[in-house]
Amino acid sequence: MKLNKIASVMAVMLLTSGVAIAKDQSLANFHADMDSCQSCHSKPIKVSDSETHENQQCRSCHGSYEELANEKLKFDPHASHLGDINCTSCHSGHSKPQLTCNNCHNFEIDMPFADTKEKKKWDAGWNQDKIQKAIDKGPVETLDVIVVGGGSAGFNAAISAKMHGAKVVLFEKAPYTGGNSMLAAGGINAVGTPQQKKKGIEDKVEWFAEDAMKGGRYKNDPKLVKILAEESADAVKWLESLGANMDDLKRSGGARVERTHRPSGGASVGPHIIDVLRKAAVDRNIDVRVNSRVEKIVLNDDKSVAGVVVHGRHSGYNMIAADSIVLATGGYGMNKEMISWYRPTFANMTSSNNVTATGDGIKLAKEIGASMTDIDWVQAHPTIGKDSRILISETVRGVGAIMVNTDGKRFINELTTRDRASDAILKQKDKYAWLVFDEQLVEKKKMVRGYEHLGMLSKANTIEELAKITDMNQLPQTVSAYNKYQKNGKDDAFGREDMPLNLTKAPFYAVKVAPGIHHTMGGVAIDTDSNVLNLQSWKIPGLFAAGEVTGGVHGFNRLGGNAIADTVVFGRRAGEHAAEHALKK
Ligand code: FUM
Repeated sequence: MKLNKIASVMAVMLLTSGVAIAKDQSLANFHADMDSCQSCHSKPIKVSDSETHENQQCRSCHGSYEELANEKLKFDPHASHLGDINCTSCHSGHSKPQLTCNNCHNFEIDMPFADTKEKKKWDAGWNQDKIQKAIDKGPVETLDVIVVGGGSAGFNAAISAKMHGAKVVLFEKAPYTGGNSMLAAGGINAVGTPQQKKKGIEDKVEWFAEDAMKGGRYKNDPKLVKILAEESADAVKWLESLGANMDDLKRSGGARVERTHRPSGGASVGPHIIDVLRKAAVDRNIDVRVNSRVEKIVLNDDKSVAGVVVHGRHSGYNMIAADSIVLATGGYGMNKEMISWYRPTFANMTSSNNVTATGDGIKLAKEIGASMTDIDWVQAHPTIGKDSRILISETVRGVGAIMVNTDGKRFINELTTRDRASDAILKQKDKYAWLVFDEQLVEKKKMVRGYEHLGMLSKANTIEELAKITDMNQLPQTVSAYNKYQKNGKDDAFGREDMPLNLTKAPFYAVKVAPGIHHTMGGVAIDTDSNVLNLQSWKIPGLFAAGEVTGGVHGFNRLGGNAIADTVVFGRRAGEHAAEHALKK
């Protein structure tokens, strides 16, 4: 083993030092040459869908991501916000490697063994025959609760179900968990928390609910909104009990007070929460299987849930029985076909979503007769980095940035709801805008350093210089007027209520933004216990859903900070009720 380790470390050194390796050498052959297939695989070879043994082997030889992190690299994939994911997510043994980061970014990084031939993707298509054969064969495993999807809603459901005594497995189709939640930048909205009390913020459950309803143009289901508001403080407490830091507070668009809870220090909320949830699942021995796509929900003759057919990367198609299923598969913001169908005007828009957001749960549920709520309501977030898939968080405006058009003029209250801000940007010349801020904001918001690192920011020592390099000739007058409003605590131009910072401290920054698909508000219809409803609004016995796959919570437009709240509140409820349903049978 020791020799193996040395050889393996040498291999990494060779690769990172640029010494050429034979062109036809794949990662698998390279390791096999050192010590047979057992460099990576068990003997006899049996690869689990999660490739657990193989990934343990990678780490035992090459070290942890922390050990592999290389500060000399401009972009270090081993120290990314994806966190502690499988090495095999990027480094495939027998096929061309692929940099997961480039699902959203365009990093030019030489991957070892990049010349390896690309193989057909294991999940490239649906195979109805194999699905049917798995059903005919019958279940290979029996569980109480199956959770489909490994984002925040899925993890919260799985942990909750397990804590209520259920035998639970979480299936995630991607090679890593996290879903869209992992990309969440804002925070979690909650009312009545110790954090609000400490800052002397007066807030009420009714205000939370009213803000969500107003933001959603009163199209939300008030019963779901009431639960979201009532259970929000407990959701924050629960996350903290699992190890999360939710000590910072800010105000998001459409909220009347500061109620968006986030990690202190300005880090993005999503990677932090996902990291916490992944560890909480491990600590509770929850079986999380990646590379496992649920292909079908199987029903009993009485239309209650019988189980699912899962397509595992290595195990193939199998039916798994369970009395309860929780759908937590997220929205459809990365499914071009669904966007074109439900919201044709957004068909060519960029998306801030994870590549996993392809509407799978909606298709699975529709197929067995579930009802959909508000399925065509799609939210455009006003500030996606122009020509990119990178979200410039609402926090940046919440903390103090102003938004201006290409002439450098403000055109809307920066803290209005997302739908209104997006519409306003699309009415400006060239359909984009700039966010402008100063060094004070950068000091407060660590995430902004990330945008700078990605080369997205224009930067100058004076506002005049910034105006020049960005061609925004009205910017100096705009900033000077804004600074006066900020000093007087009254925005005479657009009535912005919260102006925490002026723009006076050099350097000054600007980032180009344009609207992009961010959240699909509609989805599977649920009741207050997260039961999925059929076309007659009856429960489908044993089927539950939570998070972005559902409709009704956010109405026409979701407020920033309410997505994570939704995933935690309804994820927990779904898990609890799914466990109860399965265990009482
Ligand atoms: O802009 C944001 O930080 C997004 C937050 C959210 O979608 O909740």
